[in-house]
Amino acid sequence: MKVQFTETVLRDANQSLMATRMPFKDFEPVLETLNKAGYYSIECWGGATFDSCLRYLDEDPWERLRKIKEKCPDTRLQMLLRGQNLLGYKHYPDDVVRMFVKNSVKNGIDVIRIFDALNDTRNIKVAVEETIKNGAVASGAISYTTSPVHTLEKYVEIVREMKEMGCTTICIKDMAGVMTPVEAKDLVGAIKDALPDMPVILHTHCTTGMAYMTILKAVEAGCDIIDTATSCFSGGTSQPATETLHDALTGLGYDTGLDRTVLKAVNDHFKPLRDSYLSSGLLKPKALVTDTDALTYKVPGGMLSNMMANLEDMHALDKMEEALIEIPRVREDMGYPPLVTPLSQMVGNQAVTNVLVGERYKNISKEIKAYIKGEYGKAPGEINEELKKKVLGDSSPITCRFADTLEPGFEKGKAEIGDKAKSDEDVLSYIAFPQQAESFFDKREEKSKNTVKYSIKRID
Ligand code: CO
Repeated sequence: MKVQFTETVLRDANQSLMATRMPFKDFEPVLETLNKAGYYSIECWGGATFDSCLRYLDEDPWERLRKIKEKCPDTRLQMLLRGQNLLGYKHYPDDVVRMFVKNSVKNGIDVIRIFDALNDTRNIKVAVEETIKNGAVASGAISYTTSPVHTLEKYVEIVREMKEMGCTTICIKDMAGVMTPVEAKDLVGAIKDALPDMPVILHTHCTTGMAYMTILKAVEAGCDIIDTATSCFSGGTSQPATETLHDALTGLGYDTGLDRTVLKAVNDHFKPLRDSYLSSGLLKPKALVTDTDALTYKVPGGMLSNMMANLEDMHALDKMEEALIEIPRVREDMGYPPLVTPLSQMVGNQAVTNVLVGERYKNISKEIKAYIKGEYGKAPGEINEELKKKVLGDSSPITCRFADTLEPGFEKGKAEIGDKAKSDEDVLSYIAFPQQAESFFDKREEKSKNTVKYSIKRID
């Protein structure tokens, strides 16, 4: 029996525990060690890493990727991609998606995990196609949630569609850490029954304390790959610990392919860093503890704290309980979208508005209107008819893929940023995060001028 590991310390653990603020120089010395551990892959890019590099760390995300690849030539490098939304929350035209995927692979990515917040597979199709075309592994990810329309049959149908597109692995992505052991057993079992040869990956978070048990049940049901983080960056809102699961599963007779001595060396490198981030406040102790609110209220932890902050701003914290009761009603009216960004915020805000105004849907946010018009993709279930009528009037919703309504964008972005972009990669940074990228380019230019001045002075 075999079970493989994806190490998340450079991406999801870093993102979940400390808002992706780990600079390259902090983990550079351990990259050659990471390369020797025997992981299935190292998740190191995508999600917030890109934005954080440009916005806070003054790093070129593409250069970071190339440098990681240089030191980790033997281990697959993995990234997370939001399908047609790339790294953000809006839909990009196909040419931009293709360029982004092509350059990600060119700069060192081997595995692209691709998901859509609504599990509308039309929104991952172009990214999957382009990943395969460039010789990388396309992993189709399901945004996991529970609702009356998210049945095992429905999930298996999504997996079949992903397989049809060419995905060679499937990831169950439990972003809120709410999947229970029995749900994992049932879902992994159902996928394995329907498609025995399809490798299944489980991605979860320790947030509610379920993760270790959920992973064990998933592995017993045939899960092939699990996502974990080196122990000093595990737990809380991060993934469960690599070493712990290695030891537990090895004891049960599974072959992990990992080198335990190397795992310890990896953890030894990160431990003092963890301590320094804790004392600087970059890593908050609160992120490391178990919080079962997500199980109680059936909404992700991040969404709860967002709502609480919003209500506090409006001096209406006393409405929290009412808003929590309103959430499942709004979600049902919207056809049960998974509560993942940006839908979690959209549903949360609408629930708060409904409660504060005292009349349901008297005010409807422009994001919810766009969702009902079909601009985010197809809702998993039926949208409430009355609500639809209210938003659409006599017009009909978009039934095609939203990206089909968009004009090509790469050349337009290239013209817009002009000389400041020195490569196609720069143009893509600009298209993904225009302001952050432009100010990064300006700083880069300034720095190179200073270097020139400095060297001239020295010659004098
Ligand atoms: Co995650």
